[in-house]
Amino acid sequence: MAEAGLILETKDVVKRFGGLTAVNKLSFAMEKGRICSIIGPNGAGKTTFFNALSGLSKPEEGEIRFEGRRIDGLAPEKVMDLHMARTFQNIRLFGGMTVVENIMVGAYTRLRQNAVQTVLRTRAFKAEEKKAEARAEDLMAYVGLKGVGNELAGSLPYGAQRRVEIARALASEPRLLLLDEPTAGMNPAETEEATNLVKRLRDELGITILLIEHDMRVVMSISESITVMDHGEKIAEGKPGEIASNPRVIEAYLGRRAAAAGGGAGSAGDRGGNPPGGDAESAENRGGNPPGGDAVVPS
Ligand SMILES: Nc1ncnc2c1ncn2[C@@H]1O[C@H](COP(=O)(O)OP(=O)(O)O)[C@@H](O)[C@H]1O
Ligand SMILES: [Mg+2]
Repeated sequence: MAEAGLILETKDVVKRFGGLTAVNKLSFAMEKGRICSIIGPNGAGKTTFFNALSGLSKPEEGEIRFEGRRIDGLAPEKVMDLHMARTFQNIRLFGGMTVVENIMVGAYTRLRQNAVQTVLRTRAFKAEEKKAEARAEDLMAYVGLKGVGNELAGSLPYGAQRRVEIARALASEPRLLLLDEPTAGMNPAETEEATNLVKRLRDELGITILLIEHDMRVVMSISESITVMDHGEKIAEGKPGEIASNPRVIEAYLGRRAAAAGGGAGSAGDRGGNPPGGDAESAENRGGNPPGGDAVVPS
């Protein structure tokens, strides 16, 4: 049984890709109303864990409970129906659709019209669609997007696209929102705004937030609890202060960093993110080098 007050609970979740165990017996729990972060070097399994939570992939072992209900193995849209939404490390917008249309996609899970009505575009459907459009406009304003509703999502700067993704997630009325590297590719000013937005989502809208984040200043400033992954496993968990001074965590970061620095020049060593203790180096690290071999669009 799920413990009272827990919005999310996983037990011994395992996800493998061939011989690689990307997530290894991960047990995790999160209370409703919190802002928690998952951190860890590139390839630690963070995104894979999110994929399992959001129904994008089915774990081979373990259990996932959302608001007490088993959700492992459910399809992504079913998970969304239960009021869990997410954004992606590699932005996934419909680049050829407008911003408003992209946001409305998120609302369709809440539009309870049946397929026939949708095809016939009945009066009721049109009324709902109008409502969804108005809601999309409100959400745009909420996430700080102005005057871009009719622009193609793909034409927006990177930081704005991340906001659109958050707005689309909000349109599905989540109680739990998973954000996969919401500040990746952002400059320092955008990063600060995005951080404030995440706080507002929780403080004003009451949404529980779980984020994967590589910018340690963001992590340390907004997380109430931090879970550290390395090689698919949870290696530490605690409050920001505890994590920053945890030797295993520092080793996981510095080990990678030293190895990377030995292998090449320049900023390669920063790719796993700054160590949580956070030497506050440079704006470079903040905007640059989102982890992973992911396609990165410069801001
Ligand atoms: N679809 C996939 N097929 C094969 N291997 C994958 C797949 N997705 C992720 N991996 C591997 O799983 C490990 C964890 O990746 P990922 O979850 O993206 O890490 P993180 O988000 O922590 O950087 C990496 O070694 C990655 O290469
Ligand atoms: Mg990732």
